[in-house]
This record gives sequence, C-alpha cells and structure tokens, in this order.
Amino acid sequence: MSLISILKTKVSKTLFTTPSHNGKFCLYHKFYQWYRSDLSEIDTLNPEKALAKAEEKAAKIYGTKYTKFLTNGSTSGIISAILASQSKRIAIWDKAHPCHKNGAKLSGAEVIEYHLPLDNELGVYKAITISKVEEIIEKQKPDVLVITSPTYEGFVADVSNISKICRQKNVTLIVDEAHGALYPFSEDLPESAVKHADFTVQSLHKTAGGINPTALLHSNKTDPSEALSMINTTSPSYPMLATIEANLNFLNSSRGSKCIKELLENIKALNVEKLNDDPTKILLKGGYELSDKLFNQYGIEDERTNEKTTMLLCGIGTNKAKLVRLKKILKKILLLNKTI
Ligand SMILES: Cc1ncc(COP(=O)(O)O)c(C=O)c1O
Repeated sequence: MSLISILKTKVSKTLFTTPSHNGKFCLYHKFYQWYRSDLSEIDTLNPEKALAKAEEKAAKIYGTKYTKFLTNGSTSGIISAILASQSKRIAIWDKAHPCHKNGAKLSGAEVIEYHLPLDNELGVYKAITISKVEEIIEKQKPDVLVITSPTYEGFVADVSNISKICRQKNVTLIVDEAHGALYPFSEDLPESAVKHADFTVQSLHKTAGGINPTALLHSNKTDPSEALSMINTTSPSYPMLATIEANLNFLNSSRGSKCIKELLENIKALNVEKLNDDPTKILLKGGYELSDKLFNQYGIEDERTNEKTTMLLCGIGTNKAKLVRLKKILKKILLLNKTI
C-alpha cells in the first residue's frame, strides 16, 4: 500500500501511543486532515514500511541506487551526504549555502575552500567549470568535492563530465541541485546530476511544487540512511512524507510533464533576453532599481536581486496569468527605462 493510502486508512485499534492527539484532539481545526493522518510507527498500519517502498519506487523513477525523502530541506540532505561520504579532506565553495560548511564541520574533515570568480556584468557567480574542478583536484587533493549546480541564479555545471573526472581521480562528488528538482522531468531543462553524481540533493519545495521544506537525497554510492539518522528526528512527519510521494507521482505523470511543458512555454512567451541556463529562473538586467520598481509600483516580489540583475523564480504553480501580467509590466518598464 502507498503511504498516501496508509494515512487515509481508519485505525482499527485503540491507540495508547504517540502522538497523543490520536488524530482527534485537534488544536488547530484548519489542519484537521493533517492531524488525522499524523501517525507514528504503529504496528496497526506500519507507515515506515510504506515509506521504504515509496523511496524504492522513487529510486526507480530517478535511476539512482537510493533516493531518500527529506522533511528538513536540502540542508539536511547536504549535511547527510557529507557525513555519509566519510571525508578526510573536503573541498567546498566559499560562497555555498551555509549547510555545506556546517556539514563539513560536523564531519570533522579537513576543509578546503575554493573560490569562483564573480561575473561582473551580471553580479552573480556562475557554475563551476571543468578546468576549475581539475585545478582543485590537482592542487588541493580532496577526497570529496561539493559543488552547487544550478547556482541560485540558474547557471548549470557540466556535471556529467565533472563526475567522470571525479570518478577517475577517486573523488566523491556531491551536487547541491537544490534549485534543480524539475530537471529530471523535462528535456527542455538542463540535465540533472542525479544519475551522474555520487550524491545529489534537491529541494522539492523550491521549484517542484513541494511544501516547505520537502526535499530529496539521491545516492549512487552508499546507503545514506545511517548518516540521515544522525541528524533526523526519530519521529518523522508521515503526512509531510506522503506529500513527497504525491509530489513524485505528479512529476512522473503525463499531467506533470504537461504542467512543466506549459510552464516553459509561458516563460518563453515573455521573450526576455536569455542570460542563464535555467529558464525557470527569470534573470533580468536591472538590479535594485528594477527590483524596487517591481515591488513598489507593481506589487511583484523577486526571489533575489543584486546591483546588476534581478531573479524571478518560477516553478510548478507559476500559472499563465501570473506570467502574462509580468510580461505586460516588463513591457511597460522597458518603454519607460531601457534596462532589461
Ligand atoms: C543552493 C542552495 N542549497 C541548499 C539550500 C538549502 O535548501 P533547503 O531550504 O531545502 O534546506 C538552499 C536554500 O536556499 C540553496 O539555495
């Protein structure tokens, strides 16, 4: 039985178990259904068995050895991947998400920080190149390399070739693909790292329609369960885990493919200059001035901005109406001010 069906099943026994709300003592009525499906590992339903099956099914979908459902974001996935890799000397990007440094610290490995150049025209860091990977491996001799691809602003590394180099040199490759959870489900998006890297981490909540902070940890190497158990609660939220199962069922369905296809078509119709590799991160020249104008005059909040560029994040849930409105507004701004 799927996790979703298990949580819908009526419990036949009288439970003297955690959680003591027993699905009936609901302190917040708007979340009544959530309380009803909030179970522990009771013998009557065995949700942990359904979870294990759902994760096995997910690994088949992605073509990985292991895929684990995360309810504490890519943050927990990166830390666990680092712990699972048992590094002695780990190379991390100095501007990476803080979880990279925290994972490295917790692992006790010697940390080597690498730097990437800032693109002055766009005010952003681009993805790591093959020559930079070769240089890090040659000069610093790490046993684990952690990279971010795509970057926050949608620049993607050649992970397929980077993983080949890492394999040749016996370096474990961990890819932070937090912003690329849609990639495995569309040929019109950049190639995902899931089949190439030793460990790949993806946030479902960022672009793929998941609720905060659902995510995935993929491994083509060891089973990361033990590492995950070091930082995870022993009382997982099964309702949250069931949303991950539903999320993957959707992404892997024809409905999901159609939704991504339409999203990409709607973004293409904006007709903005292509500045990055990932169309779901609409990157516009304009920076703080554009960001303020969008916010104050048009009620649009961007995901991130710097002095040169502004990024608007799209994903499952970004509907056509929203993008049509954005197009009208950008046209208006463009006529007033030639910055985009
Ligand atoms: C590149 C990158 N990696 C990892 C994370 C952490 O992701 P999560 O919020 O799913 O823990 C973020 C969050 O913003 C991120 O931007």
